Amino acid sequence: MKLVGRIALADLVENTPLRITYPPFDVVIVRQGEDIFALEDACNHAGASLAEGPIRGCTIICPLHGYVFDLKSGALLRPRKLCDDQRTFQVVRDGDEIVIWDPFDLVVHPLV
Ligand code: FES
Repeated sequence: MKLVGRIALADLVENTPLRITYPPFDVVIVRQGEDIFALEDACNHAGASLAEGPIRGCTIICPLHGYVFDLKSGALLRPRKLCDDQRTFQVVRDGDEIVIWDPFDLVVHPLV
């Protein structure tokens, strides 16, 4: 896996999506209690910023056309099959920080 970026846990407000650019990614991060979710911010339907959409339960709703994505899996829940699921990132707690990893980068990188 490849390191995407870090953020202080204190910078995340409960149920308030936060968009952060970690080149080459724009990531939307959502905190729900002890659970932290990270998805690619640009909606797979037409590129709107998911960080500008509301949170409903364990979903995030795209502000442009209202598509509903599961926060944990990135799965498109409604409407079905009209675009790909949203890419997700692995999130690991490290003390007072959150570390975000790209699980699709299978190249082994030396620890930094
Ligand atoms: S751009 Fe997100 S639902 Fe259309």
